[in-house]
Amino acid sequence: MCGIVAATGTDNVIPMILEGLQKLEYRGYDSAGIAYFENQKIGVLKEVGKLSRLAEKLRTSPVHSPTAIGHTRWATHGKPSTINSHPHYYEGVAVIHNGIIENYAELKQKIIAQGHVFSSQTDTEVISHLIANGLKAGHAPLEAISKALELCRGTWAIAVLIQGYDHQVWLARKGSPLFIGSGSGFHLAASDIPAILPFTQRILSLQDHELAELTSTGAQLFSSDLHPVTRSFKTIAYNPLMAEKEGYKHYMLKEIFEQPRAVYNTLTAYLNHEDYQVRVPGIPEDFPLPDKIHIVACGTSYYAGLVGKFYLEAATRIPVEVEIASEFRYRDPIVLPSHLVIAISQSGETADTLAAIAIARQKGARILAITNSPHSQIHQIADARIETIAGPEIGVASTKAFTTQLVALLILSLHISSRQGKTELVQQWIDALFDCPSQMHHILNQAPQLQVMARRYAHATHFLYLGRGNLYPIALEGALKLKEISYIHAEGYPAGEMKHGPIALIDEDLPTVVLAVKNSQYEKIMSNLEEVLSRNAKVLAVASSSDMQIGSMVNDLALIPADVHEIIQPLLCILPLQLLAYHIADFKGTDVDQPRNLAKSVTVE
Ligand code: AGP
Repeated sequence: MCGIVAATGTDNVIPMILEGLQKLEYRGYDSAGIAYFENQKIGVLKEVGKLSRLAEKLRTSPVHSPTAIGHTRWATHGKPSTINSHPHYYEGVAVIHNGIIENYAELKQKIIAQGHVFSSQTDTEVISHLIANGLKAGHAPLEAISKALELCRGTWAIAVLIQGYDHQVWLARKGSPLFIGSGSGFHLAASDIPAILPFTQRILSLQDHELAELTSTGAQLFSSDLHPVTRSFKTIAYNPLMAEKEGYKHYMLKEIFEQPRAVYNTLTAYLNHEDYQVRVPGIPEDFPLPDKIHIVACGTSYYAGLVGKFYLEAATRIPVEVEIASEFRYRDPIVLPSHLVIAISQSGETADTLAAIAIARQKGARILAITNSPHSQIHQIADARIETIAGPEIGVASTKAFTTQLVALLILSLHISSRQGKTELVQQWIDALFDCPSQMHHILNQAPQLQVMARRYAHATHFLYLGRGNLYPIALEGALKLKEISYIHAEGYPAGEMKHGPIALIDEDLPTVVLAVKNSQYEKIMSNLEEVLSRNAKVLAVASSSDMQIGSMVNDLALIPADVHEIIQPLLCILPLQLLAYHIADFKGTDVDQPRNLAKSVTVE
């Protein structure tokens, strides 16, 4: 999704803007642009496609500017093109914008009636016209920006340059993240923290409805009615090296291999293996136990929620409903003040999940957030929270965020179970969890075999993934991984449901991935496997290493350790599916880390 970097300092800030934008590339974008000052005039440079094209232009015709704004755009209104890329310039005002101006069509009509000419199809361009109008009416820059935004409906993080003020950047935020960094001789702002960290670790988060004015020496914050706001910078403990590839070909591969560590870090942050205590500082001591739980999320986080239902119901016996956030928000769900709504989101900024939280809040429910970003909106607005300690996830296809979300859901199940006095269950589950990181290592050692298998399947045009119980969501997640990065159509299905339709698809050209590990549903899934095999499908099975029978039945096999507790099986079975998707995509030569049309954090509806 779109990225913002803006800076002003005593030296040339163009290299800072470019490096910052590079750090946001993982979010997905289709064009990039900057606005800067040259001889006291605002210049604008835009390119469709990768940021490297803009960087190349700047290399051949260098620009030196003490103040600049830069943007990577992910098209929402108006197709990807130079004209539609940001910044949008109108009569001395350059604007970059993340979010959506919902009433832009109506505003645009009114502005056109005043004689303005628009150059793009974007919603953003109305902002530069409105600010220009305010300046023309005699308002100071901050006032003109605030008056312009009063007319807008929707969400925004904006950065603005104004002719005549070549040492100032103005910012405003509503519903879309914006952070400010303070360094010696410069201030910069960005829509995500990784873009600031290479330059400074002193960071603050602009809050909704706030505006800011940056100069090389200061950052002045204002409330929506333009009263000064005081908030100090905090030093963020975050190692910029964590966001490097460290020798792996892609971030996604690195992140797949980071999972044992990410799982370990998450579980040890909350669980003590010696005294079997569960301590979740983000859940207040008096947080009431709910009589019903709703889980809302999107994409991979939704699939984590589906597994979470098994965990929470098995451990606590509290009924759980799981729903896609974009459905929940529009159907007037039955949510009561005695219910708990769990919002799961890697980024903590997903627009649909935020809207689902707002609905749940209106209905009086408490909100618990599971996010991988303590600075995110979802994390901050919740009543209780569990942070996953996965470290930054750069690959658009979620991997370590997913497995740590499963751990967070197990931790929540254990937290409630402890309060219910279920000592035996708590001990068994904690023992099982502490075995998980080393079991993950065993599975990741099979990466070379999975790479070879991937080549055999890379030419398929469709895939079927089958699982039962808590492995059905893993079939869904495995299929999503393949779709996202290899562009091969794949479908996840509950294996028992196959005979009610999808079985008609099965033939020798439909590779089928079957999650057939030893657990309470083993015999059932083996019957489903027979049904698939008798229709000549090529089968890749994920099986237990103690299974002596399955190897001779299927074409390919990935193994998970024997005698794994059922709660851990989803955490292990997803690993070979991630590796399969990765190696198929890599073999096909797709853009694994930034697949087409996708964005890392989906901050628009
Ligand atoms: C995962 O691989 C996807 N890219 C996507 O489905 C993602 O999980 C979804 O957009 C939700 O994002 P969130 O966890 O940041 O809310």
